[in-house]
Amino acid sequence: MSHAEDHEGTRRDFIYYATAGAGVVAVGAAVWPLVNQMNPSADVQALSSIRVDVSGIEQGSQLTVKWLGKPVFIRRRTEAEIEAAREADVSSLPDPIARNENLQGEVPASDENRALDETGEWLVQIGVCTHLGCVPLSNAGDYVLDSGVGGWFCPCHGSHYDTAGRIRKGPAPTNLPVPIAEFVDETTVKLG
Ligand code: FES
Repeated sequence: MSHAEDHEGTRRDFIYYATAGAGVVAVGAAVWPLVNQMNPSADVQALSSIRVDVSGIEQGSQLTVKWLGKPVFIRRRTEAEIEAAREADVSSLPDPIARNENLQGEVPASDENRALDETGEWLVQIGVCTHLGCVPLSNAGDYVLDSGVGGWFCPCHGSHYDTAGRIRKGPAPTNLPVPIAEFVDETTVKLG
């Protein structure tokens, strides 16, 4: 397990990369024989899953997990982040669609439709800018709250995402995608 400060402005965040034997992240071993037989990457994507221990994440910070070759942001939001996200007028958003793989169809991009749990404390997103694929910085951009937390900013071409990971300004066309995710117990999130 390795922890590293990823950016001076995001001191509360740290990057976590799953490594063999890390313990807190377990690759779904049972699926591998089937994956190896079938091989196509679409099947790998459909079947691969990991479990992430989120017990160490403090409010206002996020864990970044590498999954299927991409960073996934698992964020534990403060009340203020949730409130700010829920105040937004969904119909006026640049991308009014939730982009949540856990929900069927093109549902509205309300915060409730993007958060992992009902209280909205947890938000899980693929941490790849929907413009050209840079990794956005957290607690940065025009949607940082007065407390200094909240929002994401992609410095590559200036895309600003709000506290729900929705694109608000800049060239990115869509909200940060919410992958298949669920709590399997109080402190474990399963991706995939
Ligand atoms: S890749 Fe993020 S703004 Fe262009």
